[in-house]
Amino acid sequence: MNIILLGPPGAGKGTQAKGLQLRHGIAQISTGDMLRAEVAAGTEVGRRAKEIMDRGELVSDEIIIAMLGSRIEKPDCAHGFILDGFPRTVPQAEALDVLLEKRGTPIDAVIELRVNDEVLIERIAGRFSCAKCGASYHDTFKRPKAEGTCDVCGAHDFIRRPDDKREVVSARLVAYNNQTAPLLPYYEAQDRLRIVDGLADIEEVAGEIEAALETLPKRGVSHALTQS
Ligand code: AP5
Repeated sequence: MNIILLGPPGAGKGTQAKGLQLRHGIAQISTGDMLRAEVAAGTEVGRRAKEIMDRGELVSDEIIIAMLGSRIEKPDCAHGFILDGFPRTVPQAEALDVLLEKRGTPIDAVIELRVNDEVLIERIAGRFSCAKCGASYHDTFKRPKAEGTCDVCGAHDFIRRPDDKREVVSARLVAYNNQTAPLLPYYEAQDRLRIVDGLADIEEVAGEIEAALETLPKRGVSHALTQS
């Protein structure tokens, strides 16, 4: 199964993508995490991306599409994937359609996590993650079970993202509204879009996503034929 999670910064895409990965045994692909890894490794892509990410703008379609194209060829994507943060522009969505058509594995579901701006800012301002394994936490909504210790790997160091500063978050919201929101009608026209209330508790949102996946038309015979 191939799933896209759409939603503004802080909507809960990363949180829900990790849950979907565990429940469905498919790969989670976060283009934001991939870019942050390039920045940390000091690559040319990372150097170019960092300036753009620090301003809250979108990295060029050319870089992102090439990165995503290689990622979905990895063995862990053989049974499907969850895209968290991609596509973010109509050209990225069109390029994804072409890539998936070649593989014979189209997108099954696009889930929009709908959250209002005040909540987004509160969520992002309180977010932190484990410096070792990347597990995500929140000052109010999701603290580690044992204070100062990561629930997943037991590490004690935590970090906050440089683009989570309030002024950068505003720029990220503008980028979402101008460049990413036009993807909603794009996927609605394909009857792949389902809207989920991202304001509910994390577990409730997960339940709503599973319920929404049940409502999608099955790919059925034509999908099987294109794979043979
Ligand atoms: P990216 O890393 O993708 O960031 P984003 O889309 O801005 O999304 P976030 O990671 O901030 O939020 P999220 O929706 O994953 O929420 P989360 O689950 O963490 O992109 C960063 C940058 O990279 C972009 O600005 C751009 O420059 C570049 N980039 C990336 N992809 C690109 C692309 N395709 N094209 C061009 N440029 C690209 O949750 C947030 C917090 O809320 C957490 O603390 C969490 O615990 C909490 N929370 C989650 N759900 C709930 C809930 N239901 N109730 C209460 N708290 C909750």
